[in-house]
Parts: sequence; C-alpha cells; structure tokens
Amino acid sequence: MGKVKILAIESSCDETAAAVVADGHEILSNIIYSQIDLHTIYGGVVPEIASRKHIEKINPVIEAALSKADCTLSDIDAVAVTFGPGLVGPLLVGVAEAKAIAFAANLPLIGVHHIQGHICANYIEHPDLEPPFMSLVVSGGHTHLVRVVDHGKYEVLGRTRDDAAGEAFDKVARAIGLGYPGGPKIEEAAKRGNPDAIPFPRAKVNDNEYDFSFSGLKSAVLNYINHAEMKNETVNRDDLAASFQKAVVDVLTEHSIMSIRQYGVRDFALAGGVASNGALRESIAKACKAEGVNFYCPSPLYCTDNAAMIGVRAYYEYINYRFADLTLNAVPSIAIDYRS
Ligand code: KG4
Ligand code: ZN
Repeated sequence: MGKVKILAIESSCDETAAAVVADGHEILSNIIYSQIDLHTIYGGVVPEIASRKHIEKINPVIEAALSKADCTLSDIDAVAVTFGPGLVGPLLVGVAEAKAIAFAANLPLIGVHHIQGHICANYIEHPDLEPPFMSLVVSGGHTHLVRVVDHGKYEVLGRTRDDAAGEAFDKVARAIGLGYPGGPKIEEAAKRGNPDAIPFPRAKVNDNEYDFSFSGLKSAVLNYINHAEMKNETVNRDDLAASFQKAVVDVLTEHSIMSIRQYGVRDFALAGGVASNGALRESIAKACKAEGVNFYCPSPLYCTDNAAMIGVRAYYEYINYRFADLTLNAVPSIAIDYRS
C-alpha cells in the first residue's frame, strides 16, 4: 500500500496555507502566503481584509502545494482543514474550499483543531515523539499548558485568563512603536537590551497555579511608558523589550517546570508562533535539561501558522477513521479538549 497523502488547508488568521503530507510526518509541500504586509499598516489583522485575501489566494496556494508535491487530486487520500478556533470569515474560506474539493473529488474530509495542529508540528522533525507528553502552546490567540494524553486526547492544566502570550508581545510592540507583528520585533530589540533593567511583574493566578495572566504585565509596560513621558524622559526601547520578554519567558518557564515536576513527564514539546522566540526556546530547553526531560520544538517555519501541521494532525484522525461530513462548519471559539 502506498503512503497516505493528505492535502491540508489552513486559513484561520492571516496566512493562506496549503500542504501535502505523507504518512503523518513527511512534508511533500508546504506553501504559505503571508498577508502580514497587508495588515501591518493597521497595526493588526483586519478580519474582512483577511477573508477577501484568502478567497483570492486559496486556489493558487492549493495548486502550488499539489504541484510542488508532484501530485494531482487523484493521488490524494483525504482533504483536511482547520475548522477552528480562529477568525470566522477566514476560517469559512478554508472550510468551504475543503468541502468543495472533498465533494468534487469524492475524498474523505477531516476537520482539524488549530491548536492541536500547532502541537502536532512537533512530529514533523521528531517522528520519535509519542504521547503522553507535556506541551506549552503559545500563539497569538492562545496560551495553554496541556498534557497530550494520546493522539487527539488533551488535558488542559492551565490557560490564560486574559491576553495570550503572543497578543502581549503584539500589544507591547505597538505601544513602543515597533509595529505588527510584535513578537519578532520585540525579540530583535531585546537582543540589544538589558533584561534586568526594568522589574516588570510576574503575575500569579491564585485559584489555579497553572493559569496565566499577561494583562497586568501589559498594563505595567504602558504605565512605565506614561510615567517616562510625563517626566519627559526617553524610554530605552531595547531595555523595555528585553525586560518585558524576560517577564513573559520567566512565567512560561516556571509553569512548565511545575508541570514537569508534578506529572513526572519524560518529554516536553513547545508549540505555536511564540515558540519561534529564541529566548523562550533557550529558557525552556535549559529547564528541561536540568529536570532530565527531553525537549522538543518545531523549526520556526513550523511554529507559526502553516498547513503542514494541520496535515500531520489530520493523519491521526485518518488512521482512526474520524472523518467530518459536508455539514462541517467554522467554529471561531472551541476548546482544545473538545472531544477528549
Ligand atoms: O501561532 P501563530 O502564527 O498564530 C496564531 O495561531 O495566533 O502565532 C502568532 C503570534 C503573534 O502574536 C506573533 O507576534 C507571535 O506569534 N510571534 C512571536 C515571535 N514570532 C511570532 N512572539 C515572540 N517572539 C517571536 N519570535
Ligand atoms: Zn496559530
């Protein structure tokens, strides 16, 4: 029997992406059309503009993914698509497209949870990684500390009560005039700054020690900038970026260590757009080493939104015969453990 080839589509935010994935970890193609430049002038993603661009780009992106993989639809075994969480308009473009292809080519359809996809990005370069393991997913919309019990079975230990880690990066970047997307820009500035220059708070959530809260940190940064302006002092942006990044990284690392100790895990996997941050990768890798735990993290290309990770997650649905039908709809907000 030949390899299982899945055509995967991702359009939950501002990346129009398609990939062909063989047997769950071999990436035959991974095409990403990033709309970032379009949204930069507005300081963030504008949903309506994103939807329109997805409609324009989705067919060429899928054609490119098939052609790069040297495939036609007749070589494909299933069509997978992100159905949530994300922006409803952008999600609908991908979902409608996947349903149309599945119907026209008579292929099984698989709906993939975006955050589960982020975690599965780890399997691409580490096919040896198997559940159970602990995972920290940090993206623009989500911050989750999750136990991956099995393929498709997740237990949430902690989540953010307010802003996601990536959202905090984006908001702070905007406040100091670095623009969108903030994560990579803060990371660049932080390399030139002193992480101990400004003592920003590390928030604790009282009723669940695994939960996160980043809005207090964001307010502390804004207050710091306001005070400096009132006193006519200039803010050292590099020091501010470095101190802010350190505060985020410290909290994420501390919670990760706590979970490793409590659950006695063997493997720890970082995931999501913020996982491409070098300081975070280094800090969690170091903590894992000290705890005697294997550390995994996708290459930066597979940390931020892509369709390859959706194809990987879909493979485990495929081998367990978990298919969607043509009533599949976009779901803007849906928990990672919706089916556990
Ligand atoms: O996973 P992702 O591509 O999209 C969502 O599912 O949200 O994550 C995007 C987020 C943005 O907030 C972006 O600022 C952040 O990931 N990000 C970073 C870095 N690269 C992207 N944050 C910190 N450091 C980075 N190098
Ligand atoms: Zn994402």
